[in-house]
Amino acid sequence: MTLVTVALGARSYPILIEQGLLARAGERLAPLARGRRMAIVTDRNAQVHLDALEASLAAAGVATLAIVLPPGEATKSWATLESLCDQLLDAGVERGDHVIALGGGVIGDLVGFACAILKRGCGFVQVPTTLLAQVDSSVGGKTAINTRAGKNLIGAFHQPAMVLIDPLVLETLPARELRAGYAEVVKYGLIDDHAFFEWCEAHGAALLAGDVALREHAIAHAVAAKARIVAADEHETNGTRALLNLGHTFGHALEAEAGFSQALIHGEAVAAGCALAFGFSAAQGLCTGQDAGRVAAHWRSVGLPDGLAAAGIAADGARLVDHMRHDKKMAAGTLPFLLARGIGATYLDRNVALADVAAFLDAQPR
Ligand SMILES: NC(=O)c1ccc[n+]([C@@H]2O[C@H](COP(=O)([O-])OP(=O)(O)OC[C@H]3O[C@@H](n4cnc5c(N)ncnc54)[C@H](O)[C@@H]3O)[C@@H](O)[C@H]2O)c1
Ligand SMILES: [Zn+2]
Repeated sequence: MTLVTVALGARSYPILIEQGLLARAGERLAPLARGRRMAIVTDRNAQVHLDALEASLAAAGVATLAIVLPPGEATKSWATLESLCDQLLDAGVERGDHVIALGGGVIGDLVGFACAILKRGCGFVQVPTTLLAQVDSSVGGKTAINTRAGKNLIGAFHQPAMVLIDPLVLETLPARELRAGYAEVVKYGLIDDHAFFEWCEAHGAALLAGDVALREHAIAHAVAAKARIVAADEHETNGTRALLNLGHTFGHALEAEAGFSQALIHGEAVAAGCALAFGFSAAQGLCTGQDAGRVAAHWRSVGLPDGLAAAGIAADGARLVDHMRHDKKMAAGTLPFLLARGIGATYLDRNVALADVAAFLDAQPR
């Protein structure tokens, strides 16, 4: 078992990573239950793991109540938040209780936000069931819902009390979702860890094909990286946590162009976005073309999009930059970009001219 601690003083919490942990979750969670019933919130797909979790809690003497929501991004809405809060209140959830979020980033973000505001803040535990949620969204305490003005615009920082990660739950995850989550794994190597990127080059394909030991290693490594970054910059104020947005400004523009649809899911957009961020960095003379080529080659080798053409985006540079202008990171008329001096050497650049970005995008093959 791997234990990673998110070091945030009084809000510190453990992340446990181990094959088969779901079946042993009860013994970890029982102390948080304090003899009371625990609510578990999940969605209809992650629900395949509900029986195992409830059985393990029952074996530890903890009664449960399950709330099953529809799957999909639309669940992160005001309407679902309202009904979830009502159901949790009806169930008698108190401030000292811990609600369990069993699912991907959608369930984690929604349940985390509900718990941030329920009775002015109750506890919660993340049991992430997608690779993306295991390596990214379940750690760090960002919680949110979407509104008509955009994604994640209403939310709160609210740290979980514990994160339980079982790599075996990924066996039921569709291959496409797994690949998309893998893009966020590789992202940690691209940000500041050249050796981990090399590890991904060597083992990424086998990891995706089903090697559980490789999955566990990658998750533990990624979670440790995220925990370090969150501990250094919990509320994204000093630029450290912003590094996690590598590939996301380009990626967001592609997702917006694809209408935030199944045509291009988030991790796929992030992969293409990282390739574009490195391509743009090379075009600006910041990193070598060889580094940019290596990033693109790795995405191709695992079936992730390496640019606009593979992402199915035909829009011109001006249109894509227009999407970027609506990015929530846009402040005082400028948009900070994460650029690279090399693989594992990214930095936040506040002086990027959007005209240069548009020209670069126009020069990309469609
Ligand atoms: N809070 C953060 O720091 C943070 C970071 C990154 C992303 N996010 C958010 O996370 C969300 C995306 O998360 P996601 O990619 O996990 O999406 P998701 O929660 O929609 O899960 C993807 C799909 O997989 C299904 N699923 C989940 N677990 C499964 C399992 N084990 N077997 C079979 N199917 C399963 C889900 O029902 C869904 O259909 C977005 O809303 C994004 O904004 C938050
Ligand atoms: Zn992301």
